[in-house]
Amino acid sequence: MTTRRDPKPRLRSRGGRTASQIRWLERQLADRFVAEAKKRGYRARSVFKLQEIDEKYGVLRKGLAVVDLGAAPGSWTQYAVQKGCRVVACDLLEMQPVPGARFLRGDFTDPDVQARLLELLEGPADVVLSDAAPSTTGLRNVDRLKSEALAEAVLDFAERALRPGGTCLLKLVKGAEAALRARVRERFSGWRLIRPAATRAESSEIFLLATGFRGGEEPPADPEARAA
Ligand SMILES: C[S@@+](CC[C@H](N)C(=O)[O-])C[C@H]1O[C@@H](n2cnc3c(N)ncnc32)[C@H](O)[C@@H]1O
Repeated sequence: MTTRRDPKPRLRSRGGRTASQIRWLERQLADRFVAEAKKRGYRARSVFKLQEIDEKYGVLRKGLAVVDLGAAPGSWTQYAVQKGCRVVACDLLEMQPVPGARFLRGDFTDPDVQARLLELLEGPADVVLSDAAPSTTGLRNVDRLKSEALAEAVLDFAERALRPGGTCLLKLVKGAEAALRARVRERFSGWRLIRPAATRAESSEIFLLATGFRGGEEPPADPEARAA
């Protein structure tokens, strides 16, 4: 699929919409990823971010147990099911069922929701995905801190759920990765930051792919703590 942009389409009538609704609709109409998602029966254009990462780094394959955090409306879940994965999805919002996936409505940062997700998994996860995004304020530092906190919660869950060798893919606001670097290095053998082609030009999102979860290994000793 190309990423060429069409000249900006305009709505013929406002139909009682606000200016920001009009801007959103015109942007959707101009977006090739929206059109392609619709054509292929995906619920959101974000599927192409996961597809690109998966095609480059081989995240998903048949038989893997996958948790999809922040899953609604469900395009990542659809994609993972199509790849033959066993998917447990979770969102604050209701989600239309995706045949072949299990869904839990709730806040994945809540320990009770995490416990229920672990039950639904019926064993360790191979992959934890998170496209979850906190509501934004427009204040860069506040949004970065909210993104860091949500990403820490994803990592908390991933460290409980993943089998050794497992993978975690999570979305961040650019800049939030700095606060996570030490933890990710300690708990995973590899990691990289990815900005997929389907990420909108004006978006500050970035994806962190952490591979080779070290499992129950003790984290490397802190030299300062040892010296104390
Ligand atoms: C960008 S959308 C996900 C799109 C999805 N990957 C797809 O392809 O259809 C982000 C979702 O994260 C959810 N979310 C944000 N914080 C959450 C939380 N703490 N627990 C569960 N879901 C959360 C939101 O409700 C929203 O539906």
